[in-house]
Amino acid sequence: MLQLTGDGSHTLLSERFGVTYHSHFGATTESMHVFINAGLRFKAAVQNHVDVLETGFGTGLNAFMTWLEAERRNLTVGYLGLEIQPITPEQAATFNYPEQLGVPTRAEDFLQLHNVSWGEKHRLSNNFVFEKQLTPIQDFYAPEAFDVVYFDAFAPQAQPELWTQDVFKNMYESLRPEGILVTYCAQGEFKRTLKKVGFSVERIQGPPGKREMTRAWKNLS
Ligand SMILES: C[S@@+](CC[C@H](N)C(=O)[O-])C[C@H]1O[C@@H](n2cnc3c(N)ncnc32)[C@H](O)[C@@H]1O
Repeated sequence: MLQLTGDGSHTLLSERFGVTYHSHFGATTESMHVFINAGLRFKAAVQNHVDVLETGFGTGLNAFMTWLEAERRNLTVGYLGLEIQPITPEQAATFNYPEQLGVPTRAEDFLQLHNVSWGEKHRLSNNFVFEKQLTPIQDFYAPEAFDVVYFDAFAPQAQPELWTQDVFKNMYESLRPEGILVTYCAQGEFKRTLKKVGFSVERIQGPPGKREMTRAWKNLS
């Protein structure tokens, strides 16, 4: 079910889990703060190609904002989004993200993220190569393939099976040395799990409505 968040951008309510896909305080504001600013821009400051893994792809908002940011910074991005319950392109067409982000002329590009085939790489622009896979987060394993993980699963209370030591061990191994994982979650138990699998954990200011978020580092090997 479509809902409006505090900054005027849409989110979805997951009827299965009883939670929304984004913060009630603002979907685009949260994505910009947690994933683009604390994740992508942080890495883009030191390298001009960034490989991003997103769990899960959901509305495509993070992917769309990453594409726009790659163009603004003339950065190249390889992007892989994992999902098991995709929304339909028809549903995606009801979201107001292109207008809310000030790029109404890019509405077709946003829809392309939903229309392209699964399990194949798509060069959507010179700056952005995109793939989405129908793979559960728990089964994903790709050693040292990514610079940034956007860990954007539903919260631990809704999906505890996605916030386990096994999953974060795989996330750790999926990152290259000095890679980072960013997420809106800042729960103590979660941060302890990150440390157990080898991450160094940084607490940073959260988006509106949240005191903190987490950025975790893979150390140099
Ligand atoms: C918080 S929402 C993601 C929001 C998304 N990043 C966006 O920009 O709209 C969580 C997503 O994870 C997906 N999901 C749930 N269980 C999953 C699993 N086991 N593997 C992969 N994705 C999963 C859900 O279908 C949902 O789309």
